[in-house]
Amino acid sequence: MKDYKNVVVFDHPLIRHKIAILRDERTSMKEFRELVEEITTLMTYESLKDGVPTTKIEVKTPLEICTQTVVKDNSIVIVPILRAGLGMVNGIHVLFPSARVGHIGMCRNEETLQPDTYYCKLPQGIEDKLVLLVDPMLATGGSACDAIRLLKEKGCRHIKFMAIIGAPEGLSRVAEAHPDVDIYVSTLDRCLNEHGYILPGLGDAGDRLFGTK
Ligand code: PRP
Ligand code: URA
Repeated sequence: MKDYKNVVVFDHPLIRHKIAILRDERTSMKEFRELVEEITTLMTYESLKDGVPTTKIEVKTPLEICTQTVVKDNSIVIVPILRAGLGMVNGIHVLFPSARVGHIGMCRNEETLQPDTYYCKLPQGIEDKLVLLVDPMLATGGSACDAIRLLKEKGCRHIKFMAIIGAPEGLSRVAEAHPDVDIYVSTLDRCLNEHGYILPGLGDAGDRLFGTK
């Protein structure tokens, strides 16, 4: 795959370890859900290392007053792409407990693989926030591209997209369509099969998170 300036593929042994268990078809729904959250926390930590809005405050230690840098309150909005993106929200809330959450509902048509947007509810003032758009699976890239377009139409200018598993086809598509968006994936898989599923992948993330199969 081409090198894109706006794409980061994590290559971390801890994340690789968790993804190996996530892929295993024997992994229970409970463990799958926990792993998605844990991987998301690790991804958030990495992806925000040079990009969290911060501010200065004065702190009085037992010895003296000092100036400290802290994360700016209410500066981040989490936007999961429903359904599977919901599984990633708690993994970010662990780090940003007061982050507000917008929801974009999308479902891929199983034959055309085109995403259909069925819901969109975003917090007021989102246009000035850092938006963390999340979805565990980046397959053809159709859902991510449409979700980012929708956020831009609402005025969002600072968007980071995080997916746990990406396919090369989808990653290239989103990176080219939205060069101003930072894209993070934990692992880059081989390809898509004829039904638009990622190989080796982990199957249907929504079904595995919510037990719908
Ligand atoms: C899955 C996944 C992504 C999308 C990825 O959702 O969670 O949103 O497919 O595919 P794409 O990159 O080809 O668009 P799905 O539409 O199956 O809905 P679900 O989350 O409700 O299961
Ligand atoms: N959506 C999923 O949940 N899994 C895939 O492999 C592709 C799209």
